Amino acid sequence: MKLLLVVSALLAASACFIYRPVPSGVSEPWKLMLLDACTRFMRTLGTVGHWLGLGSLVNTVSSRMMMADARSDADVTVVDTTLGGLPTRVFVAKSGEKLKRGVLYFHGGGWAYGSWKFYDSLLRRAAKDLDAVVMSVDYRLYPEAVFPAQYNDALAAARAFLSPQVLEDYSMDPGRLGVSGDSAGGNLAAAVALETGSDNSLSVKFKVQALIYPVLQALDFNTPSYVQNQNDCILSRPKMVQFWLWYLGGDLSLKPVLIANNHSSVEEPAVTADIRSRVDWTSLLPARVTQNFQLVVKEKGTPGVVDKLPGLMDVRAAPLLAESSVLSRAPKAYVMTCEFDVLRDDGLMYVRRLQDAGVPVTSDYLKDGFHGCISLSSIFNLGQRSEDSYVHWLQQNL
Ligand SMILES: *[C@@H]1O[C@H](CO)[C@@H](O)[C@H](O)[C@H]1NC(C)=O
Repeated sequence: MKLLLVVSALLAASACFIYRPVPSGVSEPWKLMLLDACTRFMRTLGTVGHWLGLGSLVNTVSSRMMMADARSDADVTVVDTTLGGLPTRVFVAKSGEKLKRGVLYFHGGGWAYGSWKFYDSLLRRAAKDLDAVVMSVDYRLYPEAVFPAQYNDALAAARAFLSPQVLEDYSMDPGRLGVSGDSAGGNLAAAVALETGSDNSLSVKFKVQALIYPVLQALDFNTPSYVQNQNDCILSRPKMVQFWLWYLGGDLSLKPVLIANNHSSVEEPAVTADIRSRVDWTSLLPARVTQNFQLVVKEKGTPGVVDKLPGLMDVRAAPLLAESSVLSRAPKAYVMTCEFDVLRDDGLMYVRRLQDAGVPVTSDYLKDGFHGCISLSSIFNLGQRSEDSYVHWLQQNL
């Protein structure tokens, strides 16, 4: 009986699965549609499996499918170790200079999912092409950890990475070190770049920060990109708001409040005009982007949200809220943004604010790009292109 229910539910669902429109102008739309369908199918299969009491089987199968072992090849040695007490995979280029470039990488996944295991191709390639040591850290994730735990893990890893001992152990050039990450990992990389940039006790600093569609703020969920891409299949607005609430330890009942921008109303005393100006996309974004979108600032809103969720105003969680003087001490930056991504304007605003603070920035905007593309270089030409572009910038600037 249970099985029959499952089968008919699956059949009905599969019809709706395949066809869900993707935005026009996006790269390789049919592949994206298929990928979306597959992802949702796997998710449903997982749910159904758990429901049937096959939870551990589902977990084993999915982790086997996802995880790559530490496998060295002709060009790169791969080892699993720890950095700052955290599990870390290290990719070391085999040939070339004695002193190597170093890259510290934080993976994406909404501070809740993901692992360096998904970035094997990108990190392996970066190590090889840059003649570098690339370290990718598995920081703690939600629900085991909430803010500031993920940030603290990332910072601990960064401090260890910059330490004389680690630099020596891996023969890394102290003058050629970078911090990087994508999505929520880009958030951690940006936050770590700000903190280490302003820390005078550090004798070695990052030369560059390379941010791939980073998450940078949680005060405005009605930026043009949040509105335009609110139903995108890879990362929708409700999903991103959920990730923020998980990360900041908030109740999911606040989701509609945040989506309405009710948490940042004019009457919310903590949100001063000064803070607001740091996320004011009407002045920070070019007209090409702002078009006819309207700034959503609520007069009344829902008071007290910021008191309940202080992380909303915390620069360690939202680097876009940093003061100019703090931004000015951050390393040279690369920021990749994608047109079809709720986070596009977080990235573009950061580009502008860093530039205004005097930091050299390369804004790498992919007009047919979508969120997550760099992790999909084996499927999408776009993924390959984004990977090329990222590695090329590091070759030129690190
Ligand atoms: C947002 O705030 C307004 C004014 O206080 C209120 O009427 C509305 O219900 C709120 N919306 C949400 C989703 O909380």
